[in-house]
Amino acid sequence: MKKILAFSGSNSSASINQRFVHAVAKLIDGVDIIDLRDYDAPIYSQDIEAATGLPENILKLYDLIQGYDSIIISCPEHNGLPTAFLKNTLDWLSRNKGQKFLQDTKVVLLSTSPGGNGGASGLAKLQAVIPYWGATVVGTYSLGSFFDKVDVDNQLNSKEDQDALKAVLEVL
Ligand SMILES: Cc1cc2nc3c(=O)[nH]c(=O)nc-3n(C[C@H](O)[C@H](O)[C@H](O)COP(=O)(O)O)c2cc1C
Repeated sequence: MKKILAFSGSNSSASINQRFVHAVAKLIDGVDIIDLRDYDAPIYSQDIEAATGLPENILKLYDLIQGYDSIIISCPEHNGLPTAFLKNTLDWLSRNKGQKFLQDTKVVLLSTSPGGNGGASGLAKLQAVIPYWGATVVGTYSLGSFFDKVDVDNQLNSKEDQDALKAVLEVL
């Protein structure tokens, strides 16, 4: 069976994108969910890198990622862009053993927000840069109006969303 890793690009303890990851993982077998906050790192700086190298957490995350065939990322949209938190993690990862740290990895990009657009603008920007790291985006899904569409147990309310997401996940 293919190995699938999933996480959100949020550093909020109440992240709805992390909750969305949990909701989506109920639709497909064998997904390992991590919390990216467990791999927190300082804001990328060439000075820090020159002085102390890559943060231990980034090296751990890098090694973890290499063991997976596919990755699901649900990223919040901050001012029309993916979060600085996710970008920072990706910047650090790109400094270890070359830029292509996601070589031959399939990626499904998700996003959700309390509002109607579901973070689709930020997702589109992330989709545009994923190939820099050697990965292929095989599916995307933005879920608007999170609090109407996901219950307190992180279950998607509508069969329509469940079926649409299952179709996205089928290619993994
Ligand atoms: C700095 C900031 C900027 C935001 N910008 C957007 C935005 O551009 N579009 C949007 O749909 N929501 C925006 N939001 C609202 C987020 O969608 C909302 O905070 C959401 O809960 C973030 O996801 P998370 O809970 O997984 O961190 C913004 C929130 C913050 C704090």
